[in-house]
Amino acid sequence: MAGADERVDATAAALRGVNGYWRALDADDIRRGEHRTMVGSMWDDIGRLQFEFLRAQGLEPHHRLLDVGCGALRGGVHFVRYLEPGRYCGLDANASLIEAGRHELVGAGLADRGARLAAEGDFNVEVFGERFEMAIAVSLVTHLYANHIQTCLSRVAQSLAPGGRFYVTFFEAPRAAHLAPITHAPGEITTHYANDPFHQSFDELATLGARAGLRATHIGDFGHPRGQRMAVFHAD
Ligand SMILES: C[S@@+](CC[C@H](N)C(=O)[O-])C[C@H]1O[C@@H](n2cnc3c(N)ncnc32)[C@H](O)[C@@H]1O
Repeated sequence: MAGADERVDATAAALRGVNGYWRALDADDIRRGEHRTMVGSMWDDIGRLQFEFLRAQGLEPHHRLLDVGCGALRGGVHFVRYLEPGRYCGLDANASLIEAGRHELVGAGLADRGARLAAEGDFNVEVFGERFEMAIAVSLVTHLYANHIQTCLSRVAQSLAPGGRFYVTFFEAPRAAHLAPITHAPGEITTHYANDPFHQSFDELATLGARAGLRATHIGDFGHPRGQRMAVFHAD
């Protein structure tokens, strides 16, 4: 049976040519803060944005929160500070970004808050053995092919508490199968139907969600500085 490290290696290999997140940072890279650039920079703005957004959506300190594609905890440091100890679970395919996340927690004085982090490929969120009231994926599906998004939604659906919600940011296309590139404002990021960074229509995402037993609603503009939009998937 494949161990966790082998699964991560397999995912890292699969990510090569799909997105730029397979590179392993070493301890010096992390000390220099390269992880902050690797996850897209705007460390303070996008970290705080996702925290304030979920607070406005009703996140409470006792909630269990799953952060899928948590990277180096750009949002995670805010969630860990706010939630009761042990309530934050973050998962990412890149083990070195998880290591950078631990480094950030130490720097923020949050190492003792019981954050649970997993370097897991293939969205094996069941490693946490939890049912989550809320889950979030910021700038994750923007880097994933549809079959990976389906895997993500299907696995997260199994780990949501009754009434749980999964918030997902995406670059929005005006219609399904929108083959032409789109340049989004603000931020001037150009996205593609079949290459990273990806765009989808809300209906395309909702269809993937329905196959996972999740009902999607469109939130849209939530103040993302690079024009990403928000969708939410409900387990009901
Ligand atoms: C743009 S970063 C965003 C990270 C974090 N959500 C944030 O806001 O800083 C995208 C993250 O998705 C992760 N990722 C990409 N493909 C993944 C996969 N198949 N499974 C889990 N994580 C993945 C990358 O390793 C990276 O950390």
